Amino acid sequence: MEQYVIKGGIPLVGEVDIAGAKNAALPILSAAIMSNETVTLENLPDVNDINVLIESIEKIGAHVERVDRHTVKINGSTISDCAVDYESIKKIRASYYLLGALLGKYNRAEVPLPGGCNIGSRPIDQHLKGFRAIGAEVSISHGTIIAKAERGMRGAHIFMDVVSVGATINIMMAASRALGRTIIENAAKEPHVVDAANFLNSMGADIRGAGTDVIRIRGVEKFHGCTYSIVPDMIEAGTYMMAAAATKGDVVVRNVIPKHLEAVTAKLIEIGCEVEEGDDSIRVVASRRLMRTHVKTLPYPGFPTDMQPQMGAVLAVARGTSIVTESIFENRFKYVDELSRMGANIKVEGNTAIIDGVSGLTGARVSSPDLRAGAALVIAGLAAEGFTTVDDIVYIKRGYEDFDKKLQSLGAEIREVASERELRKFELSVG
Ligand code: EPZ
Repeated sequence: MEQYVIKGGIPLVGEVDIAGAKNAALPILSAAIMSNETVTLENLPDVNDINVLIESIEKIGAHVERVDRHTVKINGSTISDCAVDYESIKKIRASYYLLGALLGKYNRAEVPLPGGCNIGSRPIDQHLKGFRAIGAEVSISHGTIIAKAERGMRGAHIFMDVVSVGATINIMMAASRALGRTIIENAAKEPHVVDAANFLNSMGADIRGAGTDVIRIRGVEKFHGCTYSIVPDMIEAGTYMMAAAATKGDVVVRNVIPKHLEAVTAKLIEIGCEVEEGDDSIRVVASRRLMRTHVKTLPYPGFPTDMQPQMGAVLAVARGTSIVTESIFENRFKYVDELSRMGANIKVEGNTAIIDGVSGLTGARVSSPDLRAGAALVIAGLAAEGFTTVDDIVYIKRGYEDFDKKLQSLGAEIREVASERELRKFELSVG
């Protein structure tokens, strides 16, 4: 029964260090097993999804050494099994990256079909299309994807029907060891796609064009070891920027790449925040009530879908009527009902939310429907008058390292509690 309890109404002030990107670390951890030499990964975020994937990598036989909280050494030479178990994929969808890594290295892989999740059906047809294009036979039997290429894989020209981060990276991993040249058109351009390509190249791959919509790969025989540091997490950074905006605070997010957050920064300026960009930091100051805007989520460099719930929480208390359109996933407004319990005035019609800003929210007991919606509810609780309790914070801990501690360092009155007694104690202590 882990919960966050928050006493809202306090402007966040101070500086916060941003961790490595979860959505870059997941494919990079998977790709690390493609070398038979030792790969050292630094700046890994210490979040549940990362730790579950590391366990899955150990389960298939790779040697893993946890150097410290943010550093791991992986050696794939001891892998004994190309089959990933159901427990792993059930815990995190992104275990599907092991499909591209194992197929690329061993020409065969068995990974259970990842289920949907709370934000949508999450198909993987584009992943399988890419594997088939480079010569793998892909079948699905008893809920497991079986991919094999007895005669090896050969490069191909692949046009993605949908811009997909996961499929772009998964195909890039497998194709990096396919004979000849592969071209991926209509590729995803997210910073974590670029980071995955940079990591593969640091192991000896030959990948060009990552970050554009055409990626060119020339297959290589084998990978050597390397040391690599994960790119900063633009979504974690954006989440703290939104928290500053919602609480009329003054927050500097450090260890970021401002360019990755251009769409988020532009929206914050549009609604009335002052934003100062440094070389590796961004400062957000919100001194007056914010204004309405229109937001549509798009593949990078558009406004990120992973920032949509957090933006919704900020607009819930902005002046005027805002429109938020979610064009990537079909079920990413589940936080709206929870916000309404705090006094928000939001109507969802299909993939659009119409948000009539209210002058303020009041604390309530809410529960996290998914990772980013949970973060949005914490932002709402920080802005609300009174106490908010957020249930099901296990979702939040999948993607945010030390979320409560980092917010406390910015002046927030937030605690993780595990019982009613602890909750009461906190409420009494902060008054
Ligand atoms: C990644 O998911 C991220 N997860 C998501 O972040 C993020 O929201 C998403 O990219 C979009 O940026 C990780 O990186 C682990 P997609 P992914 O394939 O790769 C459709 C978070 O909160 N599609 O880019 O699964 C799909 O249905 C998570 O950190 C197909 O149709 O997303 C969606 O509509 C949530 N067929 C669209 O493409 C496919 O084969 C984009 O999905 C694959 C995807």
